Amino acid sequence: MKRTAGSVTLRPSFAATSRLSMSPHLLSVDSLSRDSVDHLLRVAARMEPIASRRQVTRVLEGAVLGNLFFEASTRTRVSFNAAFCRLGGSVCDTTGFTFSSMAKGESLYDTSRVMSGYCDAIVMRHPEQGSVAEFAAATHVPVINGGDGPGEHPSQALLDLYTIDKEFTRLGKSLAGAHILLTGDLKYGRTVHSLIKLLSLYDPMRLTLVAPPGLEMPSHLIDLVASRGHRVELRDSLASDFSDLDVVYTTRIQKERFTEEMSENFAGLSQDFTVDRTFLDARCSDTTIVMHPLPRDSRPGANDLNVDLNGDPRLAIFRQTDNGIPVRMAIFATLLRVDDQIERDLRPVRWFVPERVGVDDAHF
Ligand code: NCD
Repeated sequence: MKRTAGSVTLRPSFAATSRLSMSPHLLSVDSLSRDSVDHLLRVAARMEPIASRRQVTRVLEGAVLGNLFFEASTRTRVSFNAAFCRLGGSVCDTTGFTFSSMAKGESLYDTSRVMSGYCDAIVMRHPEQGSVAEFAAATHVPVINGGDGPGEHPSQALLDLYTIDKEFTRLGKSLAGAHILLTGDLKYGRTVHSLIKLLSLYDPMRLTLVAPPGLEMPSHLIDLVASRGHRVELRDSLASDFSDLDVVYTTRIQKERFTEEMSENFAGLSQDFTVDRTFLDARCSDTTIVMHPLPRDSRPGANDLNVDLNGDPRLAIFRQTDNGIPVRMAIFATLLRVDDQIERDLRPVRWFVPERVGVDDAHF
């Protein structure tokens, strides 16, 4: 039944502003067309003054986000939270199974229906692949996949693409024909699964995949990208000339997803897989940017992205995390259909905001 207040439909903007045919949820990059990605990234660019704390909007005033994180997270959980708040909304957070009713045996279906009665949008991270889609199947409230086990992480891929585009614009480069290296745990790393699908929607580029044996990119993803006209090269070492490389995207080994047998047999990555200053100086160029979804394992011997690149302007990892805010704001604004109202009530911020937030931030 249509609920009305007098003769006015309660949420008239829903029917009136369907400018973009996008799924009501964001569960996988599979549901995104190139048009919808372009739209989201254009909206993200319009969010920049708010995300960088120069202006304030209240476009989601009164809306409530349910943030359900059943796996470890800092940046994804906090940036979804901050993005919703910067649009004027409020957030209810649940972290870990211990403090949720799932610890009492509640199903995804029940949790989904319950949360739908409280919230206008829901972000969920869960250790099992497919669980966020199962949760979303029980609700009409927009659900965003914040990472489902080794499955997907679509909002991360969108912010990665937004970062590549922004960095390329600064460097006068273009995505068409770019050479992008994905390295690290390409088997369990959900961010690279979503990113490679997203990149494949664009004009042909060259993708080099370097993973330790046993942690290679799933073959169905390689086939998909190759079938869309991209040149894909598989290597098992970083010991090559990468002087034409535009992006090195490195990932953490997802040891928490290993089977017992893998943990016993996997002695760790050889130093050959470490992206550090020596690799960048000797094998890449001045305009190769370094990305990582983070967190990086900074403990000695972890063989993750090396901290010796801190302060190097080619290291884009914190510009990448900063970009999570405008991109997640764009996702909320689009799914909640206020993306045409952002500029309507902008006001300047009233508080102190430093010009650069990090002590090693590059001066571009
Ligand atoms: C990643 C994740 O959780 O998939 N981090 C993130 O969300 N930015 C990568 C990781 O945990 O290694």
